Amino acid sequence: MGIDRIPLPTAERFYQQYMCRQRPVVITDLFNGQPLGAVRSKADAINAFGAISLPLQDVYDDAIRINDIREHLASRLPLHYKTGETPDLPAWRDKTVSLKDYFTLIESPHNRHMLRVAFATCHQLQRAFTVPEVCRPRQGESTAVLNQNFIGVKGSFSAIHFDKDGLHAFLYAIFGRKRFIVFPHTAREKLLPFTQFSGWALQNFTERDRQAFLTWTGGEEVILQPGEAIYFPPFAWHFADYLDDCWALNLRFRRKDSITALLNCAFPDSDCQALGVLLLSTTLAPETEQDILTELARLTRRPFRDGRQKTRYIRRRIARLLQDRDGGPGCDRLAWDLERYIPSPLAEYLDWSDARRPRFR
Ligand SMILES: [Fe+2]
Repeated sequence: MGIDRIPLPTAERFYQQYMCRQRPVVITDLFNGQPLGAVRSKADAINAFGAISLPLQDVYDDAIRINDIREHLASRLPLHYKTGETPDLPAWRDKTVSLKDYFTLIESPHNRHMLRVAFATCHQLQRAFTVPEVCRPRQGESTAVLNQNFIGVKGSFSAIHFDKDGLHAFLYAIFGRKRFIVFPHTAREKLLPFTQFSGWALQNFTERDRQAFLTWTGGEEVILQPGEAIYFPPFAWHFADYLDDCWALNLRFRRKDSITALLNCAFPDSDCQALGVLLLSTTLAPETEQDILTELARLTRRPFRDGRQKTRYIRRRIARLLQDRDGGPGCDRLAWDLERYIPSPLAEYLDWSDARRPRFR
């Protein structure tokens, strides 16, 4: 079927046609006529924003294994920044680098694996665009809006995952082409979910195998050109890779209160994700929604011996809620519930009590 490319409709129409239907779409003119919309190349970006400060990080996905970012930076950065050994590398200070210098750093063959960084939108950048009207929270939705950026070199990728914050998202390509793949929720088991990640390493597939995989899972692929933004719905499984050096702005917005209730109760695994999708469905009967919310409230209030017991019990209850309301996992014989065979170290062995995780508002 493919993902449509459209100019941004009115906020109400976009909400009804795409957000409510959980339907991805590419917006071709999100920031046209605004200063950010005029930035289309690396040279433009350096010219307009060369002085903004980026935090230096390792590959984004490594962050899930990091307990203390300061320790991580202290131990890892000397491996990456071989200052003193290579005369073309500027000495970096304070673990940040300007946008302009970032591109100088990554030009060095020693730093090409310094793939990408994520950073919050700063004031200077914020002045260059207006957050679209459709992103503004309405009644019954969280006021949380994430406004951040990804910048990285050609060949970087973001492995197949869903974002556990339950927010709607725009990913706007400032410069560079970014390939983006969205999978339908029905592909959940085929993606071998393991907490919020897939067991498939799509970044290692050949072109032919990737196409076959997309046919099998129903995944839709789009190549974002500079100035284009993809909208993708809460909990959508997705993958991205960088066909050029890229900078993208990520806006995440408008979480329904029912999803906030779910996230504050459940461990963020694929059952939680599937229940979230169900709660967002336009065909969900109001009484079923109320049943689910009542059960979530009951689970939230229930006392537990410790965080591990709580995690295990609530995971079982969420799986049951899903099975009762949505038929639960399917029976595709090529699909596995990977976590049945490899228990999630996060869910099973860590204390996932409220004190150990941020609370969604
Ligand atoms: Fe993501």
